[in-house]
Amino acid sequence: MNNVETTKDWWKEEVIYQVYPKSFNDSNDDGIGDLQGIREKLPYLKDLGITTLWICPIFTSPMVDNGYDIADFEGIDPQFGTMADFDELLADANQLGIKILLDLVINHTSDEHQWFQEALKDKHSKYRDYYIFKEGKERPNNWRSIFGGSVWEKVPGEDCYYLHVFDKRQPDLNWENPELRQEIYAMINRWLDKGIAGFRIDSITFIKKDQDYASLPADGVDGLVSCKHKTRNRPGIEIFLNELKRETFEKYNCVTVGEAPGVPYDEFSQFIGEDGYFSMIFDFHYADIDVESGSDWFKRTNWTTKEFKELLINSQEALQAAGWGANFIENHDQPRALSKLVKEGFQTAEAAAGIGVMYFFLRGTPFIYQGQELGMVNAQREQISQFDDISSIDNYHRSIQEGFSPEEAMNFVNLRSRDNSRTPMPWNNQQFGGFSKVAPWLEMTEEYPRVHASENSVLDMYKQMIALRQHSAISPILKTGSIRFLTDLPDNVLGYARELENDTVYVLTNLSPEEEAVTLADEIGEIYLNTHAINEPAGKEFTLLPYQSVLFN
Ligand code: NOJ
Repeated sequence: MNNVETTKDWWKEEVIYQVYPKSFNDSNDDGIGDLQGIREKLPYLKDLGITTLWICPIFTSPMVDNGYDIADFEGIDPQFGTMADFDELLADANQLGIKILLDLVINHTSDEHQWFQEALKDKHSKYRDYYIFKEGKERPNNWRSIFGGSVWEKVPGEDCYYLHVFDKRQPDLNWENPELRQEIYAMINRWLDKGIAGFRIDSITFIKKDQDYASLPADGVDGLVSCKHKTRNRPGIEIFLNELKRETFEKYNCVTVGEAPGVPYDEFSQFIGEDGYFSMIFDFHYADIDVESGSDWFKRTNWTTKEFKELLINSQEALQAAGWGANFIENHDQPRALSKLVKEGFQTAEAAAGIGVMYFFLRGTPFIYQGQELGMVNAQREQISQFDDISSIDNYHRSIQEGFSPEEAMNFVNLRSRDNSRTPMPWNNQQFGGFSKVAPWLEMTEEYPRVHASENSVLDMYKQMIALRQHSAISPILKTGSIRFLTDLPDNVLGYARELENDTVYVLTNLSPEEEAVTLADEIGEIYLNTHAINEPAGKEFTLLPYQSVLFN
């Protein structure tokens, strides 16, 4: 790393901001965000107070899944710029004290990757064994891919199929092959040698597949079954993950943030314990509360705030028992938090701040997804042609196949689409929100003339939140204190104490659209943050307004 960090757990002190490069800032007015665009906005990020940037994939890619389909791990996609642009961005960011994390996508590549092209061209090429090919006239089993349809795609002109857990243009790498693994490790080390601070690691729990490749009973009208049961966090994955860490990350003082869906709480210590595979992981147990499964959006739940609160508490307690968590309420795969967690009619700037305070001071490293700090809401689209995201298109058609009407299907997709968070960042109230001078690759949300970064009370609140965590008298407690959840609160109110030696600070959040009366054991002392200025809690008994949060001691 350029700005050398000496402590082992330096990443516990960070506030990480996630950039979706296609939608952050367009410097060359082609309607697509780029690396120089990110560089132009470094002062904004510095002023916000964040310390680390996680940039979603910027590598050469046909962009079927917006860069999560990599054709060359070591090239920068021309849409985003050049390696020289990346080097400038890295140098300028480091100059400002901002570290950079890249997205490591090593479960699969693009079908345009040279390895896959060689594998297709010649069945005797060594690259056949870099992927998962199975000979036969029929598909080897009934597994459904995450983006719909069978995981098996026929090789043209051969009685042979290859496996893809995601889209058919994202063939899975064969981690059983030691030569492939060594190529991946060398690539990772070259990036780390360049001076990046670490990685967010994509879909890493999918790298081990059950070697029996056995079918399971179908779970949909398509006769298929979710491949997760046989490809996600399967026995034997520990061998690959330990080796990955030993051959790469462990040699550097870098941070690793695992995207680790499908890991039960009793296995968290293997992932994030003292000798865990990663520095921290994202836990999805409460992020996906509105759907039964993150890939079947037509299976919606009728969740309650009480359930949300319980899931959040379980998650935090499991993270604390095992190690360290990566706390988030939004990312490029999720709807906007204000739309998901706050009832219609209550989706105000104050509520966005209330939900922000609720998660930001949990124990762990806070992640902020671009636009979250502005209080953005979901986009409303009327036709499936308005979507870019492959899983939105798949979920629309699968919903109809499952018997829902086109209107119902559109509603599911609007609620869950990954394009909700991928709309261009509104920097101001000018045309296209100042993101670009031409029409952007994906329509802006309608709210941008009103909700943008040039004047925004949610943004002001995020600045205060970050300053309190990073540079205030209570920073040590907020960064490193333990977490204890408060009992004796109404079902709809979440409360926690952060404790360090004899110091304690508290966060209370009303998660509901009703006013909630709270009675505390002790009187409120100093209030550090209050998201609803018209209602200042005091004493032991007070009322919280809908979605109000307070941080106090
Ligand atoms: C998880 C990423 O967050 C998502 O955007 C992507 O589509 C899949 N992994 C496949 O790489």
